[in-house]
Amino acid sequence: MHELSRQISTLRAEVDYYKKELAGLRHRTFGLDEIVGESDSIRRLKEDIRKVAPLDVPIFVSGESGSGKELVAHAIHNLSRRMERPMVVVNCGALPANLVESELFGYEAGAFTGARREGRAGKFEMADRTSLFLDEIGDMPMETQVKLLRVIENGVFERVGSNRSRSTNFRLISATNRDLRRLIAEEAFRADLYFRINGVTLRVPPLRERASDIPLLVKHFVQRIGPRIDSKIQRVHPKAVQMLQTLPWPGNVRQLRNVVERTVILAPRDRLARIDSDLLPSEIVATPIGGDSGGSTLMGVPLREARENFEREYLKVQIRRFSGNISKTASFIGMERSALHRKLKLLGMAERRDDDDED
Ligand SMILES: Nc1ncnc2c1ncn2[C@@H]1O[C@H](COP(=O)(O)OP(=O)(O)OP(=O)(O)O)[C@@H](O)[C@H]1O
Ligand SMILES: [Mg+2]
Repeated sequence: MHELSRQISTLRAEVDYYKKELAGLRHRTFGLDEIVGESDSIRRLKEDIRKVAPLDVPIFVSGESGSGKELVAHAIHNLSRRMERPMVVVNCGALPANLVESELFGYEAGAFTGARREGRAGKFEMADRTSLFLDEIGDMPMETQVKLLRVIENGVFERVGSNRSRSTNFRLISATNRDLRRLIAEEAFRADLYFRINGVTLRVPPLRERASDIPLLVKHFVQRIGPRIDSKIQRVHPKAVQMLQTLPWPGNVRQLRNVVERTVILAPRDRLARIDSDLLPSEIVATPIGGDSGGSTLMGVPLREARENFEREYLKVQIRRFSGNISKTASFIGMERSALHRKLKLLGMAERRDDDDED
């Protein structure tokens, strides 16, 4: 009888979970193709995903907010040997500290007030034989970290309010945009847990380091939003795309997606197949190059220094855009290559890039 009600509760939790998961899956399958980009850093990332996905090692995905960590986690799972079962996802940041444990470990009948009579399976149990994605792991409370460590090491845990040990076997994928080393130094994250979750680290590069991916991403988002809002706009004007490539994108791909979607939604319907720069939201056009440092370092200094600061920021972004290629940068910004070299020297930016051109 007791065993039966336990099984029912496990099944119920599973059904709830699969229902939600299915709703999401109807719209997308997450593979490597979902990760748009052909910059060297994205190619390398995809190559690494392909290599590590089939191994059962724990993967730690690091990267700034909005850079695509969740896409990476799904791609890893979908290329893994555990792909037939849906990956179990826990957002450790979204859960109040007192609920994290019952969510992860599940609970036994009558474990606490408000608990279901028959108890409930937790995510560790549901993730048996599939992948467990612990998102925002940097936000996990210290007490939970200790317990997680034990589950990772032995595959054994107890539901809240129970002495009975259960075993589980999941492949761990975790992610955070927080700096775990710093959290460790501040004693907010356990070093031993860090070493356990981090069989391999995959770093998702911020968008400003791969501005060459922006045209493809813009196209991708335009084509994706179009049918949903019945818009015939097919592409963004090349000038606007070029401008987008010079912005710092602190919110990374998520921010770019929002800008593109908003722009398409707000564009007049008679403007078919193009979006001009003037349709881009003004706050993003007005974002100073180099992020929030731009305004203060320009306004608080004499003109000559301000001009040099601006030139430094401007050139830094442009050079990055062309992956360090001075000839391409020079031709884009309308300068002779030799003049650009002189300028860089003058601004104290000449190091490392004297002989990197292929011409
Ligand atoms: N390379 C990419 N190609 C296509 N879409 C992308 C790419 N990277 C990110 N996105 C899109 O940008 C949005 C943010 O991505 P995601 O949720 O994976 O970021 P994240 O790193 O998990 O962010 P956070 O730290 O805020 O949780 C999503 O809509 C995702 O589909
Ligand atoms: Mg995320």
